[in-house]
Amino acid sequence: MAVPQEQTILVTGGAGFIGTHTVVQLLNKGFRVSIIDNLDNSVEEAVNRVRCLVGPDLSKKLQFHLGDLRNKEDLEKLFSETKFDAVIHFAGLKAVGESVQYPMRYFDNNLIGTLNLYQVMTKYGCKKMVFSSSATVYGQPEKIPCVEDFNLMAMNPYGRTKLFLEEIARDIQKAEPDWRIILLRYFNPVGAHESGKLGEDPKGIPNNLMPYIQQVAVGRLPVLNVYGHDYPTKDGSAVRDYIHVMDLADGHIAALQKLLTTDNIGCVAYNLGTGCGTSVLEMVAAFEKASGKKIPFKLCPRRPGDATAVYASTEKAEKELGWKAKYGIEEMCRDQWNWASNNPWGYQSKP
Ligand code: NAD
Ligand code: UFG
Repeated sequence: MAVPQEQTILVTGGAGFIGTHTVVQLLNKGFRVSIIDNLDNSVEEAVNRVRCLVGPDLSKKLQFHLGDLRNKEDLEKLFSETKFDAVIHFAGLKAVGESVQYPMRYFDNNLIGTLNLYQVMTKYGCKKMVFSSSATVYGQPEKIPCVEDFNLMAMNPYGRTKLFLEEIARDIQKAEPDWRIILLRYFNPVGAHESGKLGEDPKGIPNNLMPYIQQVAVGRLPVLNVYGHDYPTKDGSAVRDYIHVMDLADGHIAALQKLLTTDNIGCVAYNLGTGCGTSVLEMVAAFEKASGKKIPFKLCPRRPGDATAVYASTEKAEKELGWKAKYGIEEMCRDQWNWASNNPWGYQSKP
């Protein structure tokens, strides 16, 4: 499939974890990129690192705009100045626990921000969108692997925003068939850019497994709590489908190419995972091997709301996007450790 060159892509939330890695790949493929991010969960230094990585020539094709999707004027300004060929929409809040405590924050940010984006895109005639959905829309799957046509379910306010936004996308596309929308359901994104210059840098105590392990490895946290050791799995700990963030980034390029080159694509969902399940204890062992560090852990009760085992069926993305994950957990842990050991305090220096 021919790559449409010199197209301009708006990346919302492009200063964040998945956004930065995707922007590097977009620039490497010859796209022009504008980022809009309010830096709520990221820092501008991450965008500076992207510029360093791609070099001075490709950097000229990258623009950063500090702005908030909830302010329609921020979007109006952007769209009135630049003609975008498509939007990759990452911006949103993503912490499950926080969403249970402060649901309004999630509805306000994720729903209002996205509705504003659709309205401004419609007004300026840009009707191509790749949306960050999540495996969270499968809830507690009754069967695995998860297939795209399973019934969907939300378990918490964060998950509900993803589910609503998927439904909203389907309704908008049905009402206005010239929209082309791809919903990407990510499984568990981990790892980092192989250079060690980009990676995940959560604010506060990490909620997710790999950033937590990473902070234990560099001595920022004393011990990992392993939530659940009595699941009906190979070693009693829960099983997930971890996917290298660079594979995920390439999945976005594949989706974008499909979007830009296919008429009548409609609104379609794809899983982005590896299709392999790995337990929490297997992940700990793989990280210890990659880092040469001992990860002290404590076996704890299950975390409320967690599923036993979740992994993706990858057939649809392979067949229709021509995309397949390349990396296994060894490479994910290697690159995550490379990032962690070079940046033990993330993008900041030690506080
Ligand atoms: P992230 O927090 O690192 O990146 C999101 C970015 O969006 C941040 O830079 C943040 O500052 C920005 N942002 C948030 N609200 C904004 C607003 N109103 N206006 C402008 N910018 C705003 O998160 P990530 O891990 O890169 O996730 C990206 C997307 O993928 C999110 O939508 C998330 O829900 C989804 N997702 C992530 C995971 C995961 O485990 N990382 C899994 C499934 C889905
Ligand atoms: N876990 C621990 N200790 C920790 C953190 C996590 O044992 O300190 C366990 C969890 O209990 C779970 C597994 O590690 O069994 C993975 O947990 P994560 O929090 O890393 O990931 P989840 O599968 O719970 O959820 C993540 C994102 C969701 C997203 C989902 C699917 O947080 O937003 O992946 O994409 F929806």
